[in-house]
Amino acid sequence: MGAAGHTGRFVVAELRRRGITPIACGRGTDLDSALRAADAVINCAGPFAATAMPVIESAIGAGIPYLDVTAELEVVTDTFASYAGASIPIVPAAAFYGGLGDLLATAAMDDWPVADHLTIAYALSSWRPTPGTRATGKVSAQRRDGRRIAYTGHRMQFRPGDPPRTEWTFPAPVGTQPVIGEFTMADSATIPTHLDTPEISTYMTANAVDDLRAPDPSGPAAVDGRGRSAQTFLVEVVAQSQGVRRRAVASGQDIYAVTAPLVVEAATRILAGAGDAAGVASIGARFDAKDLLRSLSPEDLTPVFHASGPRSDS
Ligand SMILES: NC(=O)c1ccc[n+]([C@@H]2O[C@H](COP(=O)([O-])OP(=O)(O)OC[C@H]3O[C@@H](n4cnc5c(N)ncnc54)[C@H](OP(=O)(O)O)[C@@H]3O)[C@@H](O)[C@H]2O)c1
Repeated sequence: MGAAGHTGRFVVAELRRRGITPIACGRGTDLDSALRAADAVINCAGPFAATAMPVIESAIGAGIPYLDVTAELEVVTDTFASYAGASIPIVPAAAFYGGLGDLLATAAMDDWPVADHLTIAYALSSWRPTPGTRATGKVSAQRRDGRRIAYTGHRMQFRPGDPPRTEWTFPAPVGTQPVIGEFTMADSATIPTHLDTPEISTYMTANAVDDLRAPDPSGPAAVDGRGRSAQTFLVEVVAQSQGVRRRAVASGQDIYAVTAPLVVEAATRILAGAGDAAGVASIGARFDAKDLLRSLSPEDLTPVFHASGPRSDS
């Protein structure tokens, strides 16, 4: 669903690259009949506040797994609340936001049953948002009445006022950058569904927030044969427990493009019988996080895991 959108096109190309025949669906598609002919559905049509529920209902009717790439944390929360007992596997936010941070947090915590604190720090070299991202930002802002959200004290809490500004020292080559705090994305909704931590701090590089908030932002421009933009990303997750830190980091090119191998890998694994339990579970909860991250092509993602200690232990 949403196959003609910017992200949908990356997903269709990734399916074809793996020898899987996509059934491209859009607004005019009779979804019930299309899904009856499919093995799984990947929903790329956002804002998902409008599309997640009808596509999930159609997937339940067809008896096939449902995955989406929503970045809307409220949609993730609603999906868990509404479909916990669903008869099909449902994977919300199997994407850059909501999926990658969840996998990295799962990998960083490893065998810890609980962490005192998780930090997710996103470094984007730039962020030229698609129309879908801009529309989604508006819908989410309306749902929150303009307020921010932070995961603290084991729950989502609204925050008034301006977000905190600080600096975060990312691994090389990104280094120390000005960041905006409480940049709470779908990862903060997926992670607490299966990892035990009272606090999730989030940071986004300030330049990317400035790009996103520009009055008339231009969309991503392709610079390679796959249609990826020049945008680079690095996501660092730090788990802390009793004074010990564990870190997991992933870097790559183009947050929209990397969403395709993440969601297609998840769908492929479910169809192969791994992580295919019925009901709602995030990508980090369903699969061996380190194995999934390592299974992606280095052209898509480079993950690095640090058991504990300072950055120089890498
Ligand atoms: N979590 C993440 O990291 C991540 C990564 C990538 C994308 N996303 C999300 O994915 C969504 C799409 O992003 P994009 O970059 O692909 O945007 P896009 O290029 O603007 O494409 C949006 C697609 O969604 C379709 N769509 C929108 N509302 C619809 C509705 N009510 N019913 C049916 N189709 C609808 C559009 O169809 P029409 O052209 O017919 O309007 C279009 O195909 C956004 O919500 C974005 O936030 C999230």
